[in-house]
Amino acid sequence: MTDFEVGDLFVCEDYVLESFDFGEVKQKAYCLKSSVTDFDLTGQIVWPAAIALGKYIVDNKELFAGKNIVELGAGAGVTGLVAAHYAKKVLLTDYMDVVLQLLKKNEEYVQMDNVFVDKISWGENCIKNIDTENKFGKKFNNDDKVDIVMGADVIFWPESLDGLLETLDEALEINPDCLVLISFYSRVKHTNTSLFEKMEKKSLKRETIFNDGDQYIWKITKQ
Ligand SMILES: C[S@@+](CC[C@H](N)C(=O)[O-])C[C@H]1O[C@@H](n2cnc3c(N)ncnc32)[C@H](O)[C@@H]1O
Repeated sequence: MTDFEVGDLFVCEDYVLESFDFGEVKQKAYCLKSSVTDFDLTGQIVWPAAIALGKYIVDNKELFAGKNIVELGAGAGVTGLVAAHYAKKVLLTDYMDVVLQLLKKNEEYVQMDNVFVDKISWGENCIKNIDTENKFGKKFNNDDKVDIVMGADVIFWPESLDGLLETLDEALEINPDCLVLISFYSRVKHTNTSLFEKMEKKSLKRETIFNDGDQYIWKITKQ
């Protein structure tokens, strides 16, 4: 009898090179057209929220110029790669090893020297670790504060809300001027209710800076 990992049966890594048109930025990246949610491989595909945030970045490129950016739950990394056309440094992060391999593949493909990839699981002082310990992304250092923290379609499972909000809170605590952007696609009402309650408890305020139907981009601040 052969030993095998059951998870392997569900993991497809037959990535295709897709082209995404953001106007002045045409970004190519490897991704899948569909994936499984069972092991949270949602990051293998590029979600509409990533496209919406990519467009926002190009339309508001002056906000991103010369900045140090951390993308949370980057998935294939398309949004962060768009930002890298303007930013000083972009750290693309995710917590799933399969997704991190995809991020690495895209990092290697784009050959941009300001793009880095590392593992970040939300919560647990994950932003502090970048800033003070030089732990993630070898070219971030103590003089380089994080100017922008952003995430596209990172709000979907109620159980991950606490860690995510802790991380957004942490980013604003370290640097009150940090621009925190969340590209949010509204799907499940009870997740939204829980999100809004948790944000209020943490005194996190959201300002809608883009809206099209169920797609929002929020700027998050601390009251
Ligand atoms: C729906 S996908 C969005 C991917 C990409 N941002 C996009 O919009 O195309 C959510 C991403 O968040 C990542 N993620 C979920 N929970 C996480 C956690 N606790 N820490 C870090 N990343 C997480 C997943 O691995 C996945 O890549």
